Amino acid sequence: MAAHYFTKQEITDTYGVSVPTVTNWIRSTKNGKLDLELFEQGSKTYVIRSAKNVEIIKRLVDEGKKYRPRHSFKEITPRDEFYNTYTEGQVYDIVVNLEKYREVDCELNYFDGGAENWDKYVQRLATEDSSNITETVKLLGMSTQFLDELAGEYDKVNIIDIGVGNAMPVRGLIEHYLESKKLGRYVGLDISREMLDIAGRNIKQWFGGTVQYDAYELDIKRERFGHLLAEDYLKDERVANIVLFLGGTSNNFRDPDEAFRTISESLRKDDIFIYTSKLDTDNTRSSIDFSAGDASNTLMDPIVRFVFDLLNIDEKLYEVDKGYDEELRQRYLRIRLTSAVTMTFEFGRGKQVLEFNKGDRILFWRAWHMTPKDVYERLERNGFYMLNANQNPDRQYVLTVSQIKQD
Ligand SMILES: C[S@@+](CC[C@H](N)C(=O)[O-])C[C@H]1O[C@@H](n2cnc3c(N)ncnc32)[C@H](O)[C@@H]1O
Repeated sequence: MAAHYFTKQEITDTYGVSVPTVTNWIRSTKNGKLDLELFEQGSKTYVIRSAKNVEIIKRLVDEGKKYRPRHSFKEITPRDEFYNTYTEGQVYDIVVNLEKYREVDCELNYFDGGAENWDKYVQRLATEDSSNITETVKLLGMSTQFLDELAGEYDKVNIIDIGVGNAMPVRGLIEHYLESKKLGRYVGLDISREMLDIAGRNIKQWFGGTVQYDAYELDIKRERFGHLLAEDYLKDERVANIVLFLGGTSNNFRDPDEAFRTISESLRKDDIFIYTSKLDTDNTRSSIDFSAGDASNTLMDPIVRFVFDLLNIDEKLYEVDKGYDEELRQRYLRIRLTSAVTMTFEFGRGKQVLEFNKGDRILFWRAWHMTPKDVYERLERNGFYMLNANQNPDRQYVLTVSQIKQD
C-alpha cells in the first residue's frame, strides 16, 4: 500500500518538476503562501497524498509552464571547452541531473584544468595547521602502529587510494612501508585522468622510481575494482591491501552509500579500509572556504568553479547562495537564478533544451555533515565492520579502520 504522503522523489518523477521546486512549495506552504497539506516527522516534512494536494500540484505545474513567454528566457550555451572536457555520456548525465535534481556533480570540477585548481588548493592547505590535509596526515600517523599489527603477517602491503587528489595526504604512509621494505604497489583510482597524472607526477618527484604507481580511471559510485588487485593474489608473496578513502570525497556525493557499497563489494576478507571525514561541529558548519589564493572572483569559489565556468552562465543571471541547511544537514553552494533561463546542450544527434524559472536554485557543491555515529552507521549498513576509530583532539576529523563483515 502506498504511504499516506509523497516523497519528494515521487513528486518529481510523477510531475516532472525538480526536487528544489518541491522544497520551494513546502517552504511557501510553511510561510502561508500555499495551501498544501503537510505531514511532519522528526525534522522532515512531507506532502500528504490527498486529492486536494494532487489538484494543487497539478495547478502549480501548469502555472509554471504558462508563465514562461519565450522571449523572457535568457539563453545559456556552454562553451566549446565544455564539450572537449566531458564525454557525451557525461554531458548526458549533467543534463539528467540538472533536470531531475537541479544539481551539477561536484566531481566534474576535478577534470582537465580543474585538477590543477585542486592541486593548488591542497598545497595551500598543507601549509596551514588544522586543515583537511594536516589533520588527515596526523590521523594516518596515529594509526600506523595499528595497521602494522593488522598487516603484520603479510610480506607486502599495497596501498590503494580511492580519489587520489594530488596524493599528498598519503605520502607519509607510502614512506613508512617503503622504509620497512614492505611496499607492494601504490594504486590510484580516480574519476579524473588529470588528477591521476598529478598524483603520478608527485610520486615520481618524491620517490624517484622506487614506488610502482598504477593508475586507473573509474567512478567509485558504480565501478568495482577488485579485479584490478587480482594479480597480487596469484603471487607467492602474501600481499595485504590497505584501501584509502580520504578527504571526505563521498560527502560531496548525492548518495554516498553508493560508493561505500561498491567499495565493500570490491574488498576481500583481509583487506583493510581506511576512511576519513570531517565531523559535524559548529565550526565545520560555518566553514566554506575553497579559495586557492584567488580572491578576485567571489561569485563562485575556484575549486568548484571549473564546471561552472564551462557552462558559461552570465554573472547577471544569478546570485550565489551558500550556507548550511539544518534540515538536510549539509553545507551547500548554489546559485539562485535571477531570470528565467534556458540551457541548450548539443549532442551528436541533436539538442536538449532545459528550462529554468526565475528563483530556481542550482546546486554546485554539497558536503553532508556526519557525527561519529553517522560514520559508524554508514560503514555498518554497507557491509563494513569497524575495528578502530581515531579523532583529532578538537573533534573536527575522524579516521576509521574497517574490514568487511564476516559471517
Ligand atoms: C576531495 S578530493 C580528495 C583527494 C585526496 N584523497 C585528499 O584527501 O586530499 C576528491 C578526489 O576524488 C576524486 N573523485 C571525485 N569523485 C569521484 C568518483 N565518483 N570516483 C572516483 N574518484 C572521484 C576527485 O577527482 C579527487 O581526486
